[in-house]
Amino acid sequence: MTNEQRLDRYVPVWRAAEPFLRARKNDVHIPLSFALCQELLTHYPEADADVVSLAILLHDIGWYKIDMVDIIEKGFGPNMMQSDVRIRHEVEGVRMSRDVLSRTGWPEDVIAQVGAIIDGHDTRPYPRSLNDRVVRDADKLWRFTVAGAAVGADWFKQTPQDYVRRQDHTYKLLETEAAHPIARREHALAHKVLMTNWL
Ligand SMILES: [Fe+2]
Ligand SMILES: [Fe+2]
Repeated sequence: MTNEQRLDRYVPVWRAAEPFLRARKNDVHIPLSFALCQELLTHYPEADADVVSLAILLHDIGWYKIDMVDIIEKGFGPNMMQSDVRIRHEVEGVRMSRDVLSRTGWPEDVIAQVGAIIDGHDTRPYPRSLNDRVVRDADKLWRFTVAGAAVGADWFKQTPQDYVRRQDHTYKLLETEAAHPIARREHALAHKVLMTNWL
């Protein structure tokens, strides 16, 4: 199977998931993180490309079920990574991913592996597998991109320039070797495009 043929198999999943991406700028986050995920996968041929790709496509679908005011007030408030709404988006995500993947004809073992990654993806302190690590890093890498800064700055009530300058801590959260040069590349580009060096 060529890489293009592999990617084509995810099109029905993307189409089924896309209406649920209106929350929390997931319609930008998911395509960006999906592309970063494909780049990471080229470094980890031993990872399961289907499980990883489907998990990144569907990992945040559960936000759709959560009230937008709650997302802003509790999802980005104090103790945000362990907040109730965060756990709810994971639980809903497991349920909704099962629905989307069974409707699009994926087998039970893939559905279960994708669900295990989505379950606790933000609140679990440790990854469960290499597949999980690749998804977790793809989820975080978009923060280094220009679009990630544009969106993240609004969430955290910062300027995009400040957001870019405050991403150094995110490097420590990365769990794969290959994510680091990608993070540095995107971060450098965001600094340049958003002209932080002129401030
Ligand atoms: Fe999430
Ligand atoms: Fe995410």
